[in-house]
Amino acid sequence: MPNPAPRHFLTLLDLTSNELDWVIQRAIALKQIRNSNTLYEPFRNQVLGMIFEKSSTRTRVSFEAGMAQLGGHALFLSSRDTQLGRGEPIEDSARVISSMVDIIMIRTFDHAQVEEFARHSKVPIINALTDDYHPCQLLADIQTFVEHRGCISGKTVTWIGDGNNMCHSYINAARQFDFNLNICCPSGYAPNPQLVKDNAQRIQIISDPKTAVQGSHLVVTDTWASMGQEDEKKARELAFANYQVNPELMDLAADDALFMHCLPAYRGLEISHDMFNDPRSVVYDEAENRLHAQKALMEFLLLNPNIDA
Ligand code: CP
Ligand code: NVA
Repeated sequence: MPNPAPRHFLTLLDLTSNELDWVIQRAIALKQIRNSNTLYEPFRNQVLGMIFEKSSTRTRVSFEAGMAQLGGHALFLSSRDTQLGRGEPIEDSARVISSMVDIIMIRTFDHAQVEEFARHSKVPIINALTDDYHPCQLLADIQTFVEHRGCISGKTVTWIGDGNNMCHSYINAARQFDFNLNICCPSGYAPNPQLVKDNAQRIQIISDPKTAVQGSHLVVTDTWASMGQEDEKKARELAFANYQVNPELMDLAADDALFMHCLPAYRGLEISHDMFNDPRSVVYDEAENRLHAQKALMEFLLLNPNIDA
């Protein structure tokens, strides 16, 4: 019998809201399993292929450690050392690699490349960051919010800074997890206008950071120059100078507001030196939750759980 078409996770829209809620709750449960030193190895003999065309610390370590903890194995495939980096067509790479491993994660530049890879893959593909989206980070961010403050539905989140891949994934998250999103970017650095238009009822564009954070339950920022934009660093530092998140800005948000940043962070630029260790910052919990959230995601994609049980 042919295998059914695999489910992929290229953006947050690939899972339903119910499925995403299952992943978040499962992530919290898997964290407890790990913290209680309970052996849980559903992925024995399963292999995760990890294709990296950009640098990574958290994504690589969390996927590789997570797969090992669940009894499986992870293969690190850098484009520098594979034929992908020498121009072998994506279709051929997808057909070959997916005939040998059980699940694949890809970090690359052009989002169309993960879509192309997924079209030709026999196994689930996970987007581990493209220029357009970073959905795995959002699983960890939502898990972190739920752990600290409970359900995010109906809350107000403010995105400060670049209208980048993380901002786009926050727009999708607002839709899937039912929260309001204020977006505060300097002129010329707004997110994809079509994505904003498609989600207009949940989004407010506010150009002044002090106005944007008012009443927010979560304030989020990211680097001003993403991977691939290194040449723009200086120009961006000028354009984003008034968009730093610091304790004074956080004081204007809701009393119980949290601060998140996907990391790596640049102290003195998008966040002040004292913001990292401010009591409202949960950036280290957020980073750790990459591990638990992606284990839950891989369970969802590989084990086809009954999410209504
Ligand atoms: N947040 C994140 O994806 O970090 P890395 O680039 O270190 O993987
Ligand atoms: N926006 C950043 C996120 C890094 C995890 C980048 O794409 O470089």
